[in-house]
Amino acid sequence: MQRIRLCAADAVNPGEVRRFDPEGMDPIAVCNVDGALLAVEDDCTHAIASLSEGRLEGEVLYCPMHGGAFNVRTGKACALPCKQALKTFPLEIEDGAVWLVPKGR
Ligand code: FES
Repeated sequence: MQRIRLCAADAVNPGEVRRFDPEGMDPIAVCNVDGALLAVEDDCTHAIASLSEGRLEGEVLYCPMHGGAFNVRTGKACALPCKQALKTFPLEIEDGAVWLVPKGR
C-alpha cells in the first residue's frame, strides 16, 4: 500500500491535535508534541468519541467524553476508563507534506 498524504507539514501547530480522514481508512489524529508529529487512530477505544476534539498535554491525549487518556507516542491507555491501546501510525515529512506510512510497507 502506498503512503498517504495527510496534510501540509505546518498544518498542526505545537500542542495541537487535528483530525484527518484519509480515503479508505478510519480517521487519524495527528498530534504535534514539541514539534514532533505523531499519528494515532482518532476513535477512542473506550466508547464513541473523536480524540482530536480532546486535549493534548505533552504526549498525553485526553478524550473529550469521559476523561480517559492515551500516550500518543506509544498508543497505550494511561487513564481510566480507557484500557485498550490506540493504533499508532508512522509518519514521514517530505516535500512539505506529512505522509502516513501504512504498516507493513
Ligand atoms: Fe473516550 Fe469514554 S469515549 S473515555
